[in-house]
Amino acid sequence: FPMYPLLFLLLPSTLAVTCFDSITGGTCCGDYCYAYRENGKSKIEETGCMIGEIYRSVNGKCLDESEKSYCYCDSDLCNNPNADYPNWKQGKLKCGKERNCIACDRFHFDDTLYDDCRLEEGTIFARLMQPQSCARFQAGKLSNGNNELVTCVCDKGDNCGKKLLEFQKLDSKKVTCLMGSGGVDTCKGDFCFIIGSEYISLRKRGCITNNETLFAGLFKIGYFIDRGEEHIICQSKNCNQNWEVAKQSVIINEPVCSTTTVTTSTTSTTTKSTSESIEEYFRRRWNSLIYSWTNVFNDVMLRLEG
Ligand SMILES: *[C@@H]1O[C@H](CO)[C@@H](O)[C@H](O)[C@H]1NC(C)=O
Repeated sequence: FPMYPLLFLLLPSTLAVTCFDSITGGTCCGDYCYAYRENGKSKIEETGCMIGEIYRSVNGKCLDESEKSYCYCDSDLCNNPNADYPNWKQGKLKCGKERNCIACDRFHFDDTLYDDCRLEEGTIFARLMQPQSCARFQAGKLSNGNNELVTCVCDKGDNCGKKLLEFQKLDSKKVTCLMGSGGVDTCKGDFCFIIGSEYISLRKRGCITNNETLFAGLFKIGYFIDRGEEHIICQSKNCNQNWEVAKQSVIINEPVCSTTTVTTSTTSTTTKSTSESIEEYFRRRWNSLIYSWTNVFNDVMLRLEG
């Protein structure tokens, strides 16, 4: 009698897709492919792989932001940089002082309120926020004790974020997590997170609480790679203590693609392994990662702390 269950364990992740990868100039292996462009320009600027089940909610969508957009798909080479993508929408919404937004993002960080078009740049957390969703992120401790970002993304009318944000409680006590990049400060939320990888010495840790009524399942337990940056979302006490502990608290399914040779008009390359791609990403993207959303978080905190 053949031992099917054991054989199944050896099978690669069924999500695995081969994607065009503009960073390496070849292809990468991921769970979902993405194509990225700046609005108003027809050229696709960047293609690559996203890794993690968390992207299911954006699969098949082009997420319009005010200046930059990402499209996600899940079949081999679906992120062809020369293909026609559905036209990006022209936004019409007013969000605070901003005009022509596709979606509004109203958030308060510390005690300050912001009203903007949907955030344009950032990590997995900002990028997954879609109309209609609200979430609370806690990522560090400030001298005055206020250390939270509560944010709502919506597109149901001008300044739709105002009403939405007002009614957010998001005070889950499900799990206790560590926050900040060191030390023993804790927060409580639905999930713990840690951002970083063996290539980043400074890790960011904290709590996430999602409004499940507005957008169920926006955040999920697991391991995710977003444009080369590794994230873990876990849900047991202090599971985000450090990278090693966090890694042991989630199941990591690295997508495995069959080694294919992809020939485009100019190049002929073979698929790189995930770790090779990450390394490449970090070498090439370090400068733009510096400006990612979590760094905005840090910048604001440093400013307030200093
Ligand atoms: C979720 O959002 C709705 C709509 O704004 C709000 O009424 C509700 O209080 C929110 N839930 C939590 C837990 O904050």
